[in-house]
Amino acid sequence: MGAGEAGGGKAGDGKAGGGEVGAGEAGDGNGTTDRSGMTDRNRDAKSGHIELASLTKRFGDVVAVAGISLEVAAGEFFSLLGPSGCGKTTTLRLVAGFERPDAGRILIDGRDVATLPPHKRDVNTVFQSYALFPFLNVAENVAFGLRYRSVSKADSARRVAEALELVQLAGYEKRRPGQLSGGQQQRVALARALVLRPSVLLLDEPLGALDAKLRRALQVELKTLQEHLGITFLYVTHDQEEALTMSDRLAVMSGGQIAQLGAPREVYEEPVDAYVAEFLGVSNLMDATATRPAGATEVCHVRLGEFDLEAGCGRIDSTGAVKLAIRPERVELGAYELTGGNRVPGMVERLVFLGSATQIFVHLAPGVTLQALVRNDGRALPWSQGSPVSVALPADALRVLATEVPAFEEALAPAVG
Ligand SMILES: Nc1ncnc2c1ncn2[C@@H]1O[C@H](COP(=O)(O)OP(=O)(O)OP(=O)(O)O)[C@@H](O)[C@H]1O
Ligand SMILES: [Mg+2]
Repeated sequence: MGAGEAGGGKAGDGKAGGGEVGAGEAGDGNGTTDRSGMTDRNRDAKSGHIELASLTKRFGDVVAVAGISLEVAAGEFFSLLGPSGCGKTTTLRLVAGFERPDAGRILIDGRDVATLPPHKRDVNTVFQSYALFPFLNVAENVAFGLRYRSVSKADSARRVAEALELVQLAGYEKRRPGQLSGGQQQRVALARALVLRPSVLLLDEPLGALDAKLRRALQVELKTLQEHLGITFLYVTHDQEEALTMSDRLAVMSGGQIAQLGAPREVYEEPVDAYVAEFLGVSNLMDATATRPAGATEVCHVRLGEFDLEAGCGRIDSTGAVKLAIRPERVELGAYELTGGNRVPGMVERLVFLGSATQIFVHLAPGVTLQALVRNDGRALPWSQGSPVSVALPADALRVLATEVPAFEEALAPAVG
């Protein structure tokens, strides 16, 4: 029907986000639902499962998404995390239906939706730019998507009230977007997506325009809401802290591919390579050479400058150039005279008192600077700027990371160059 088509048309032009949101919401404009009760079904734990298989999208010579495969469970909070240009938004737009893949499949609840227009997918999108209609008030903005659905006036009013209640904006119905703060506008955008009760919500840096404090408050709210509603969230962010605190699982992306996928703790504690470790900003990283890979001893022998060390985790079967990673809280400082036991001499460069701990920057003899984090137990530390120290890097905390260029970057090189 006309109205639904118009909404879909707007989506295609990729202009004002309002068109895109409107399109997704214009859902049942043609009066047909693809599955019975899609709009108002009783949400069961099974809906909202996403599967991407070898998903690929090119823009001319640029491979924006280079064969991504992943599964998101129904009701899961899943994040795509990565630096600018790594393909997060493109992946989301493929799932939403605003882009057509060049190859690969997109399954939502087992159904291939890759060729369906946005409004035929049980999916809604929230953008960084709130994309509200400035001339409509809050209630009208939220109700907009319901216009093209067979929802009675009374039902619509009830659902709008419910949605505004969910995002804690009851009482703001009559305000225009211009009379709201950024955080409130984003909540209206969220309510507008939630009022349609999609089984999958796609969120593209939804908190990106907010200041740090508001951002943290809304992170907690969003996560609580997601758990409460049981909707699948596919969440895009370049903020590692945000992804780590909110997600059930996340995928760290690089150059259109997934560098690592796992639970936040897993990705944080066990980064697969230097790229992930560096992006998460977790560890001290050092260039070293693996001289003897792990055999019966279960440790990899590495050379850091002129010092031989043992590393007990990560890619301990490596040889040649590697990166070593160690978390600041695992670096141990001792008296300079101490030797052996994975120790390297160094000198304290700077101490930063953080309250519950002291951050100590130590310059190691091999020429690298490490951070150590020493918990504050009430006693004064025996070191000051310039103190010589012996730095222990326990083997069970010293991680070997591969440094070789991932195969996909080589594969992409000719296309990009
Ligand atoms: N419509 C388009 N035409 C041409 N190239 C595009 C288009 N959309 C995206 N790209 C390119 O595809 C790559 C991935 O872009 P994408 O927007 O998915 O990145 P992103 O991870 O969302 O980045 P950001 O964090 O900056 O939003 C980039 O190199 C980008 O320039
Ligand atoms: Mg983006």
